[in-house]
Amino acid sequence: MAKIIDGKQIAAQVKAQLKTEVEQLKEKGVVPALAVILAGDNPASQIYVKNKIKSCEEVGIKSLSFTFDSSVTEQQLIETIEALNDDKTVDGILVQLPLPKGLSEEKVLKHISDLKDVDGFSPANVGALTLGRDCFKACTPSGCMKLIHSTGVDIKGKNAVVIGRSNIVGKPMALMLLAEDATVTVCHSKTENLAEITKKADILVAAVGRDRMVKADMVKQGAIVIDVGMNRTSEGLFGDVDFESVKEVASYITPVPGGVGPMTIAMLMENTVKSAKNRLNK
Ligand code: GUN
Repeated sequence: MAKIIDGKQIAAQVKAQLKTEVEQLKEKGVVPALAVILAGDNPASQIYVKNKIKSCEEVGIKSLSFTFDSSVTEQQLIETIEALNDDKTVDGILVQLPLPKGLSEEKVLKHISDLKDVDGFSPANVGALTLGRDCFKACTPSGCMKLIHSTGVDIKGKNAVVIGRSNIVGKPMALMLLAEDATVTVCHSKTENLAEITKKADILVAAVGRDRMVKADMVKQGAIVIDVGMNRTSEGLFGDVDFESVKEVASYITPVPGGVGPMTIAMLMENTVKSAKNRLNK
């Protein structure tokens, strides 16, 4: 029976440490600040943004909230971003995704300064991650790395399999595991013999968005299983991993909810504090 990795508790520890760092920054005259831009009325996005703002309050980060209805134009969003780029008191800028239909995420996001891109989505930050340089790293895969580290298992040389190749999770996840010397395989919707590959994983990360698709017979005995999925179904909220069966096979497993989810926001707070430290040291 697997040990359950408590993302809520680990996120609380990260935030408590950040709170101390924020107090120290404030003593030096820097108030870390995060600007959150929300466009449209996607209910999940509204909840995520509310939770991000609540976490800012917990940690002592100032939050600035910009909300637009779904009729907002790309130009209006770009003007908001550019004003925030120029505002020296703002450390991080986040545009909650997805944008309303008809708006190009690429066209809007590219205006966020690389120095304030606390989501780690910009080509410059993704490129720097690829090259192993200091940068803002995407929050969800960073949070997964912290959860893997919490097990105390050495990643070096282990077989790591990532299911999913999104720009936000799968690809940066693979790069972060590779940077820590794992042997990494990325699987996706066109992968043949998926179970054969996942069964070799010492570390298995599922980030596909398909309700409980990873079954016990796809998992190696003793694997660490990290579940990024958040699938809302008529039966309730489930991950990409069939928790009930997989927990009998894995050595460590994250629950949904209470696993990766709380870590994403904690890492956003960490990136914002990192940016504020950069401002202090400029
Ligand atoms: N939508 C889903 N995940 C994310 C995220 O990590 N950042 C932003 N900005 N939007 C998202």
